[in-house]
Amino acid sequence: MTFFGISILLLGIQAGSALADPEQDRKALTEHYRTLFPKLTLQDYADGVYAIDPGARQSWRAIEEFPPYEWALEEGKTLFSIPFSNSTHYADCLPNRGIGIAQLYPKWNSETGEVVTLAKALNDCRERNGEPPLPYQKGEIASLLAYLASTSRGKALAIEIPDSDPRALAAYQAGKAFYYERRGQLNFSCATCHVQNAGKRLRSEVLSPSLGHTSHWPVYRLKWGETGTLHRRFAECLKQVRAESPGAQSAQFRNLEYFLSYMGNGIPINGPSIRK
Ligand code: HEC
Repeated sequence: MTFFGISILLLGIQAGSALADPEQDRKALTEHYRTLFPKLTLQDYADGVYAIDPGARQSWRAIEEFPPYEWALEEGKTLFSIPFSNSTHYADCLPNRGIGIAQLYPKWNSETGEVVTLAKALNDCRERNGEPPLPYQKGEIASLLAYLASTSRGKALAIEIPDSDPRALAAYQAGKAFYYERRGQLNFSCATCHVQNAGKRLRSEVLSPSLGHTSHWPVYRLKWGETGTLHRRFAECLKQVRAESPGAQSAQFRNLEYFLSYMGNGIPINGPSIRK
């Protein structure tokens, strides 16, 4: 049954555009996980591995009582309120002045013909206003994203792939292809671990399902000892299989985030959060 589910997913890729309906992909993937984890509601996936590993969940809940990302969140709130030297604010560049919008990203921009993540929207805003872009892995950008995510808590991911621009679907497909392509010295794809082997143990870690992989960022990782971004995590997973990373906010990673976030549609934002 499970095996069959996976072959259908793979078929979707091989058959290319004929079967490339994002909504069909999302349903097939959700169904795959429903078979693996029949007790989980869609909402539960926001908690990543802690939704399926009760032992780890307990210590995670304990840490959430005094969340170590709080500092980044506060810093982000302050940074967000400080005007650039031309007195423009981040808020001037964002819908609803940036509040409660994180669940809508990444977004397709039909003017530039590319996927815009919330992180990129912030840096684009800076550059348009004569400020240098922020590094994308941690630091100020992570703090700003922590604040913006906090204003969207409880709002379900609602990623759109507009029919009006075929390039949006192409970007989604590129992200999906990236997810299922095998790479690196270990010849693993993202899906090998997070789709086929979700719930199984890899050394000391239980592998989380891909649903909800984008709903809780940025993350304070105990391993990092700081708050970092989703693309930093993408790069680490690639490193684990000894594959090259195209880099934070590269077109490849933005397309990948577009695909993964679309798969998570309906799952509430609960970032920032904590992971091991
Ligand atoms: C060799 C197995 C393996 C591969 C391949 C792999 N990952 Fe991971 N990934 C892990 C492990 C282990 C973790 C930490 C435990 C967990 O949450 O699954 C993780 C965590 C993550 C997380 C964080 C989940 C959270 O809740 O915070 C994301 C996002 C992620 N991986 C995305 C990817 C993407 C995208 C790819 C492909 C580029 C990929 N992974 C490839 C093993 C893998």
